[in-house]
Amino acid sequence: MAKIIDGKDLAKKFREEVAAEAKTLTVKPHLAVILVGDDPASHTYVGMKEKACKAANVESTVHRLPAEATQDELMMLIDGLNSDRGVNGILVQMPLPSHLDQMAIFGAVKREKDVDGFHPTNIGLMNLGFAEALIPCTPAGIMEMLKSIDYPLKGKHVVVVGRSNVVGKPLSTLALLADATVTTCHRHTENLAHFTRQADVLIVAVGKVNLITADMVKPGAVVIDVGTNRVGDKLVGDVDYDAVATLASFITPVPGGVGPMTIALLLKNTVLAAKIQNG
Ligand code: GUN
Repeated sequence: MAKIIDGKDLAKKFREEVAAEAKTLTVKPHLAVILVGDDPASHTYVGMKEKACKAANVESTVHRLPAEATQDELMMLIDGLNSDRGVNGILVQMPLPSHLDQMAIFGAVKREKDVDGFHPTNIGLMNLGFAEALIPCTPAGIMEMLKSIDYPLKGKHVVVVGRSNVVGKPLSTLALLADATVTTCHRHTENLAHFTRQADVLIVAVGKVNLITADMVKPGAVVIDVGTNRVGDKLVGDVDYDAVATLASFITPVPGGVGPMTIALLLKNTVLAAKIQNG
């Protein structure tokens, strides 16, 4: 039976560390969150982020724009926050309404304030292995989870299912930088199970209930489930948890796995951003 990697517990430890570090800074770090429209899930996530900031000695402000806000209005808000010396981190909550250009927004947030790690410069710095890179929160949180179980990736086969800019692609990069052999699978991959069965570490970030069944997992594998799918009033991942847990060595639950770590790493990035800006 797999051991559970308790993201909630680990995130709590992380948040306490961040809170202690934030206290050592002369000015309280400040995160600005931009929320466009009224996607209910986004409102919930932003509320969780605000609460986490408060508990970690990080100031937060939420800037709300209506769903019909224009690209120019959003850009002007970002420009103002970019030049506001009192703001250390800027996060534009995704997804944006479809008429807005997400890629342009990623590039508009000043790289030093880009706590999501979505700016092309941060992506480049991360790929080259520079320490000052701001790294996307979910992949960074997953790497911390692997560290917490003392699982060195060197020489291991990491299979990432999903190639999003937010999770799959940066995670594949981080695993490669940690000397793993990396396979990235996606919607066009033929015979997905052929690859997943080879994984020492299987990371799934797709958003499809029961995509990964027990027959697709090597016994003893570490399984990280990034999926968050709403089924009725329950939240479930992409992995058939009960069946896969009988043969994996470690597994992350949903909820209480990767999600809490994402928020903890957002706080960490905000403190790092404040440090970068204040030399
Ligand atoms: N929506 C879902 N995940 C994320 C994230 O990591 N960052 C932002 N900005 N929006 C999201």
